[in-house]
Amino acid sequence: MRVLVTGGAGFIGSHLVDALVAAGHETAIVDNFWERGGGRRANVNPQSTLYRCDIRDQELDRVFAEFKPEAVSHHAAQHSVAISTEDPQFDADVNVKGLINVLRLAARYGTRKITFASSAATYGTPQYLPIDEKHPQLPESPYGITKMVAEHYLRYFRAAKGLEYTALRYGNVYGPRQDPNGEAGVIAIFAGRIIAGEPIRVDWDGEQQKDFVYVGDVARAGLMALDRGNGTCLNVGTGVGTSVNALHSAIAAAVGRDVEVVHAPKRAGDVRTCVFAVEAANRELGWEPLTSLSSGINATVEHFRST
Ligand SMILES: NC(=O)c1ccc[n+]([C@@H]2O[C@H](COP(=O)([O-])OP(=O)(O)OC[C@H]3O[C@@H](n4cnc5c(N)ncnc54)[C@H](O)[C@@H]3O)[C@@H](O)[C@H]2O)c1
Repeated sequence: MRVLVTGGAGFIGSHLVDALVAAGHETAIVDNFWERGGGRRANVNPQSTLYRCDIRDQELDRVFAEFKPEAVSHHAAQHSVAISTEDPQFDADVNVKGLINVLRLAARYGTRKITFASSAATYGTPQYLPIDEKHPQLPESPYGITKMVAEHYLRYFRAAKGLEYTALRYGNVYGPRQDPNGEAGVIAIFAGRIIAGEPIRVDWDGEQQKDFVYVGDVARAGLMALDRGNGTCLNVGTGVGTSVNALHSAIAAAVGRDVEVVHAPKRAGDVRTCVFAVEAANRELGWEPLTSLSSGINATVEHFRST
């Protein structure tokens, strides 16, 4: 299948491209190497065609006309909650207007399906645990709002233009190539600092738990969603909560070094526990997370050691 991956030079998108290439798909990447994002030349799979292009630009038309993607995996985004609160207009420009440009062209050039990188940020503070897909979506940041709005545009384009979709709501994705400044950069930040022998900062009491899912498992979900899970929004996580304290201990063990912890107050809006129910992704896609936290952390530490 011809698959266009927007944001394919970034952290998650590049792993997806690698998985697509390995599975025999023909791929192209659209990425503008946004200066505050995780896009890197070194991440670009040499067997993929790279279009250096902004998803908001007219030029995207030429990419669709030339590559004629049968499927699009939309990962290009303003990826940071913090930037979205500083500049909600920019966030909406990329994450909503950019998406609409992609959807419009996909519909015009006969793309069959779009898969979309949505987020746990669409849920807001959990009202119950684990969070399943029926949980109310009350996002608490502009980033969470634009990701939620995007899901509605997908639903609209399916109804109006017959463009199939699957939205994958990622938990905290981690692994090699992660940009420490992105949505869930804590493992990348800790790994970098512990390897460098620098102290790490732990907010609150460090007992807050999140659902950390390995990027290789996320890429596999993206591959499976190409022809399954039509018209659904699915959680992609592990169903297991890991505390910040457990994380830095595991990273320190993988690095083989003691860690100095500096404590800081709770960050505004930080939630105590965020864990996904992942049965729907299993039912719809046949997907389940396969990578244990320790092997995922080992692979991540290995990557940050060698860069
Ligand atoms: N990392 C996570 O834990 C996480 C969790 C939930 C959702 N997501 C979503 O997954 C996707 C990938 O995130 P990531 O962590 O790999 O971030 P990333 O920054 O590494 O990747 C995003 C890529 O999009 C590109 N990009 C940004 N603006 C663009 C534009 N206007 N035109 C073309 N390309 C543009 C960037 O250059 C970058 O390569 C994003 O949509 C993000 O919101 C990530």
